[in-house]
Amino acid sequence: MTEIGPGDEELIRVASLARQRAHAPYSKYKVGAAIRTKRNRVHSGANVENASYGLTVCAERNAVAAAVAAGAKRIRAVAVVTRDGSSPCGACRQVLAELGGPTTEVLLASPAGAPVGHTLGALLPHAFTF
Ligand code: THU
Repeated sequence: MTEIGPGDEELIRVASLARQRAHAPYSKYKVGAAIRTKRNRVHSGANVENASYGLTVCAERNAVAAAVAAGAKRIRAVAVVTRDGSSPCGACRQVLAELGGPTTEVLLASPAGAPVGHTLGALLPHAFTF
């Protein structure tokens, strides 16, 4: 686990706002994600579900897409807010590893309870790269 700093609180607030805008009528499980880039810009995403369930896109991957579309190259930290403080799915960990690295901070938060920080390296050891 890693320490939570003042900038992390802001990132969690942005992720919470994105979570409120999630489109999750099927699972009712809303997820918000916010990315801080190495250049200190913040980009957010929410999960977007689909009536054809397999087309659902997770909040983290939508946040990565928003960051890339805005010109981001590298990720410093990502905050993920869910109702229970869950951590990103395996697919999202791999996508975060594309622009992040083993030291990228992954902050897990819920509306109630203290946030918890991990490194991406701890959540996805031996990420695939080539
Ligand atoms: N979900 C995310 O947004 N991120 C994850 O890392 C795991 C799951 C979403 C997908 C779906 O809309 C809902 O949570 C329930 O699986």
